[in-house]
Amino acid sequence: MRLADIDRVLGIEKDCFPDPWPRSAFEDIVKSRDHGAVLGVVDNKLVAYGCYLIIGPEAHLTNLAVSPKFRRKRVARQLLSHILEVAQRKECEYILLEVRPRNESAIAFYENAGFKLLYRRPRYYRNPVEDALVMVYYFTDNES
Ligand SMILES: CC(C)(COP(=O)(O)OP(=O)(O)OC[C@H]1O[C@@H](n2cnc3c(N)ncnc32)[C@H](O)[C@@H]1OP(=O)(O)O)[C@@H](O)C(=O)NCCC(=O)NCCS
Repeated sequence: MRLADIDRVLGIEKDCFPDPWPRSAFEDIVKSRDHGAVLGVVDNKLVAYGCYLIIGPEAHLTNLAVSPKFRRKRVARQLLSHILEVAQRKECEYILLEVRPRNESAIAFYENAGFKLLYRRPRYYRNPVEDALVMVYYFTDNES
């Protein structure tokens, strides 16, 4: 992701989430050394993105979204595979994410990709206030 991509990214973000991130959140990611962001492009059109943070042994999937018309085409799976590869190359032991308990499609997607429920974090989200399910994917065999 580059600064020039953020207008289009914000359009997708607003289509995908009730509490979209502000422009400044994506600007901070693009400028940060610890964060990364990858784009999904179909027919030269930006249709998806995934954001992540790597700190020491821990990776965090901070955002993942696919424009509604382009879902169920394995776009998110490809973005996630890329992010998992990057995290593994940087010797992360696991990757965490938060998801709203009512977001059944995202939970199904993450379970299909091998993530497991770790715990429930109370009142994590705003607009609307909701718990988060924290899910984890271990890169090492002994934890899975
Ligand atoms: C969750 C999301 C990123 C999935 O993107 P996607 O590109 O449609 O997912 P993929 O096509 O790569 O799906 C891969 C597999 O995940 C599972 N899956 C994905 N969406 C699913 C759904 N709605 N219901 C059930 N299983 C689903 C399926 O097993 C799918 O494989 P299949 O299509 O061969 O059955 C997308 O629905 C999205 O952007 N949602 C809104 C934003 C969001 O909630 N992001 C996650 C925040 S934590």
